Amino acid sequence: MSNEGNDVPKPPAGMGIGSRRVTRRGVLGILGTGLGAGLLAEGCSEPARGALRDSGMDPHNGGMHADAESGAPSSPGDAGDSHADAAPGCAPTTADVEGPYYLAGAPSRTQIAGSAEPGERLLISGRVLGPDCVTPLAGALIDVWQADKDGVYHGAEAEYRLRGQMLTDADGSYEFETVMPGQYALGSSFRPAHVHFMVSRPGHAPLTTQLYFQGDPFLPPNDPCGTGCNSDEPDRVVAVSGAAPLRATFDIVLART
Ligand SMILES: [Fe+2]
Repeated sequence: MSNEGNDVPKPPAGMGIGSRRVTRRGVLGILGTGLGAGLLAEGCSEPARGALRDSGMDPHNGGMHADAESGAPSSPGDAGDSHADAAPGCAPTTADVEGPYYLAGAPSRTQIAGSAEPGERLLISGRVLGPDCVTPLAGALIDVWQADKDGVYHGAEAEYRLRGQMLTDADGSYEFETVMPGQYALGSSFRPAHVHFMVSRPGHAPLTTQLYFQGDPFLPPNDPCGTGCNSDEPDRVVAVSGAAPLRATFDIVLART
């Protein structure tokens, strides 16, 4: 289902992130069938799932919330993420488009890039937090998927390459190992490198979003996805360390249902 092996356009020289060339090749959205064939359609016209910012939800009003130790849903009124005073600037992580490449059924694993996967190794870690931006959410399900270093998505027939699901630990933390995704063609430009996240937790609003990387020249105003992808949200554009493996930290805040 992948379009691996097709000739694909390359981002202009030097169009990497920071001092590194993140992408050697983009992918031609109009080539082939299967996963690669829909690249031009990457989500820009699709409604984001789990939109939070404009949901009108009261993050401190009712609903089940987590027992941070056990990960089990607990009754309304437990301590959990019921902090009355959220930190200044605290807000749920913003949603982004799902895009056409989500596949249910990815294996449970924290190494989504096999040892032979080409590309710069990247460790992404962080915590999933309640709406007060403080309380850790244990047992949150994180489903991630991304393109390879050349901007190509792979499917179930490729053993769910660069896809995986994991649960947060008791302290809400998660970490997975991957490679830096490639930028890929969208129309006449390229989408910035990104990793897709789908996060769910009983008692909290499900979130579908994307993670971007500082220094990417295709971030807004150059993201051809335009306003539909919300790639200008600073809480989802993270720094990447220069050491190998590369490291990035992404904390995720869920709203209450
Ligand atoms: Fe994507």
